[in-house]
Amino acid sequence: MLNFNELKARGAALVTGASRGFGFEMAKQLSRLGFDLVITGRDRAALGEAAAKLDGDVAVYPADLSEPGAAKKLYGAIKADGITLSVLVNNAGLGASGEAWEVSEERDGKIISVNVSAAVTLSKLFLSDACRRGYGALCNVCSVGAFQPGPYTASYYASKSFLHSYTLACRYEAKSRGVAVTSVCPGPLDTGFFRSAGAVKPRAAMSAEKAAEYAVRRFSHGAATVVPGFWNRAARLLPACVKTAAVARMKKPR
Ligand SMILES: NC(=O)c1ccc[n+]([C@@H]2O[C@H](COP(=O)([O-])OP(=O)(O)OC[C@H]3O[C@@H](n4cnc5c(N)ncnc54)[C@H](OP(=O)(O)O)[C@@H]3O)[C@@H](O)[C@H]2O)c1
Repeated sequence: MLNFNELKARGAALVTGASRGFGFEMAKQLSRLGFDLVITGRDRAALGEAAAKLDGDVAVYPADLSEPGAAKKLYGAIKADGITLSVLVNNAGLGASGEAWEVSEERDGKIISVNVSAAVTLSKLFLSDACRRGYGALCNVCSVGAFQPGPYTASYYASKSFLHSYTLACRYEAKSRGVAVTSVCPGPLDTGFFRSAGAVKPRAAMSAEKAAEYAVRRFSHGAATVVPGFWNRAARLLPACVKTAAVARMKKPR
């Protein structure tokens, strides 16, 4: 398996949802390691501002990953421009809060399209190239929400559970082809995510920069599941029913 020094010499890193928040911080860590970057998100201006803050070569490909076929089109456009990708970070994601029956079908559809369908499509396209070549590293950004059901944020937690399980299965398959696959599962982060999801940011939210620093370090060492933050790792040891009840208490609309 090639290390990150070898990977950066062979191709660029694509980070989805890199215009802000955790994706931007993941891109920053990879650019510090010397990777050329390809970044994507919906907002072209925000991507331009993010690119200006990153080191090295940064190519910007705006895309709305909730649109049918957008992930495939994005991957095709990057390849058509002659860019080889040695690293993919599937980070773009969104959530929703409220009782499952209250969340609009449209919002649930977007959650499934971006968090699941687009991440799966990009994973498949990337793994198909990387496994044939015999090198590459894939990181799917899941959540500690992948480890138990999430009352009052049901579709979001379920989407992350799907992605986490899918990612670890891909890891098993890709290992013999020289390709590393990692699931990064952050706890609450200090980003705009909660506002977009119509929820309140927990007071204990971790700095996205610190979480990304840890995540990229463990990703570069080929870890399977990466949980930034000591207390988030400790909480994994609790039984799922206890965590589900705690999530319900935290997320129940007041
Ligand atoms: N924040 C947390 O507490 C937390 C905890 C665990 C896991 N995570 C996961 O970490 C990842 C990043 O979250 P964050 O906290 O950084 O959220 P954020 O600040 O809301 O950033 C989300 C990113 O995804 C992009 N995005 C959203 N919808 C998109 C779409 N339809 N097509 C393409 N790009 C889209 C956004 O750019 P545009 O708006 O310009 O499209 C933005 O760059 C997500 O997968 C999230 O589930 C977050």
